[in-house]
Order: sequence, then C-alpha cells, then structure tokens
Amino acid sequence: MDAGNEANIGFDEVRARAIIAKHAVLQGATLPILHALQHEFGYIDRRATPLIADALNLSRAEVHGTVSFYHDFKSAPGGKHTLKICRAEACQSMGVDKLVERLELMHRLKVGETSPDGGLTIEAVYCLGNCALSPAALLDGEPVGRLDSAAIDDIVTRHAGARA
Ligand code: FES
Repeated sequence: MDAGNEANIGFDEVRARAIIAKHAVLQGATLPILHALQHEFGYIDRRATPLIADALNLSRAEVHGTVSFYHDFKSAPGGKHTLKICRAEACQSMGVDKLVERLELMHRLKVGETSPDGGLTIEAVYCLGNCALSPAALLDGEPVGRLDSAAIDDIVTRHAGARA
C-alpha cells in the first residue's frame, strides 16, 4: 500500500453508510456492498470495514477477509493511470516475470502498488485473452501486446515520472 495515498481521498462516511444500508437487505450482502463501495470511491477504505461489519452483524475480521480474498478489491486509492500486467502462463513463458522484476529494480514500482506521485498503479491480472501477443497488459483499459523493457520504461516515464 502507498502511504502517500493514505489521506481521505474520496472517502465519505455518510455516502458509505447510505450505500451499505441500501445493499444490506440483499442476500449475501457483503459482496454487493463491497462492489458498490469500490464503484463509488475507487477502493475499499479501511474505515468502511466496521460500518459493514455492524450493518451485517459480522466481525471486522470476516469483512477484512472478504476484501483481501478477492483481488479485484483495492485497499487504497489507485493512481491516475493503471497498468494491469498479465502474469498467467503464456505471458510467463514469454518473460513477464523479467518485466515485473525490471519495474521493481529499475523503477521501484511493485505490483499492487502506486507510484509515489500517484501517477501509475501496477496490478496483476491472470490472462487477458491476448496470449498471442504475450506478454500482454492493459494500460487504462487499452490492450498492450508484446510488452518489452522499452515499453515498460516508456509507460513508467510517461505516467509515473520515473526514468529507467
Ligand atoms: S496468459 Fe497472458 S494474456 Fe493469456
């Protein structure tokens, strides 16, 4: 998690309570509530955990467990841009691990984190259905195929202000 994004970016307890109350009546309400909160705020703020637990009569640990079990739920606000890198088999066989290593060693960016300037979030995904162009990724939802070191450096330079 990026401590720089810790502040109250976008979280509003009154709105969160309203969203929780609206979905609490549903069967198996935890996931619909979490999806609705993420849709509203872009992530699941940790201050929502006790609100959900109280509304659904669950422990905080149960709510936290659900949030951490599903990779789609973010625990911190994302960056302005998002690079989703495929780490599934075909992309692995085409060297995606080396690219992730490059991100960490050369750019100090880790999967699951956001650059210190808030410009770029790196996420892992597992098969984008673009195996023919592996290593594959999505940059702000747009497919990027045959990802290589130069492309990684370019993306980081443009969106995270870092240099190789
Ligand atoms: S394994 Fe990466 S796109 Fe299919």
